[in-house]
Amino acid sequence: MNNMRIASKAEIVYRQMLSNEMMQRVEAFGALLLACVADGASVGFIEPFTLNEATAYWRRKVLPSVMEREVVILVAEAEGCIVGTVQLDHDTMPNQRHRAEVRKLLVHPQFRRRGIARALMVAIEGHARVLERSLLTLDTRTGDAAEPLYRDLGFETAGIIPDYCRDTHSPRLDATTLMYKRL
Ligand SMILES: CC(C)(COP(=O)(O)OP(=O)(O)OC[C@H]1O[C@@H](n2cnc3c(N)ncnc32)[C@H](O)[C@@H]1OP(=O)(O)O)[C@@H](O)C(=O)NCCC(=O)NCCS
Repeated sequence: MNNMRIASKAEIVYRQMLSNEMMQRVEAFGALLLACVADGASVGFIEPFTLNEATAYWRRKVLPSVMEREVVILVAEAEGCIVGTVQLDHDTMPNQRHRAEVRKLLVHPQFRRRGIARALMVAIEGHARVLERSLLTLDTRTGDAAEPLYRDLGFETAGIIPDYCRDTHSPRLDATTLMYKRL
């Protein structure tokens, strides 16, 4: 995955992945996460980070929620390889059943700036609507590439929390931007 050899014009296919297939392909999710973290993505992990750790995240933290149908997971595939993903966590408390949280929007560094993240976000919003969610929330490191994308998609900034997370490659503490969108 780190050295993907896929035709640059390969068609991108977007779809939901169910838990039984995810179980079989959990290492591909790990490889995508590993490539993004190596590239500096601020998505919860810091270097050094291994494929085993990345795969364990999907197996232990995501797969059980997908199995329980508490999380919807979408993938973008090029020639059958997972090059992007996003999650919708709709396992909200009883007083927030109208809300869902968008998590872990990831696009492989070799496939960026082709509209993959935008398409994944539009698709996950569609799932939120089907689930009758009227409020989406998310957070992202302040100043990262995702921020203008979310703003462009209609998300508004609720606030910024300073020193929220450690940088992927250094001890620096970075701020996070909390965002929301009413559907
Ligand atoms: C953020 C990320 C998902 C964007 O993926 P992508 O497929 O390259 O994004 P798209 O091609 O759909 O870009 C959509 C818009 O986002 C914005 N954008 C994307 N990358 C950008 C960058 N490097 N700098 C500034 N704006 C950027 C632009 O507005 C872009 O629209 P444009 O190409 O018409 O100008 C990708 O860079 C990534 O995986 N980053 C690491 C993980 C991460 O930070 N995830 C989000 C936090 S959970």
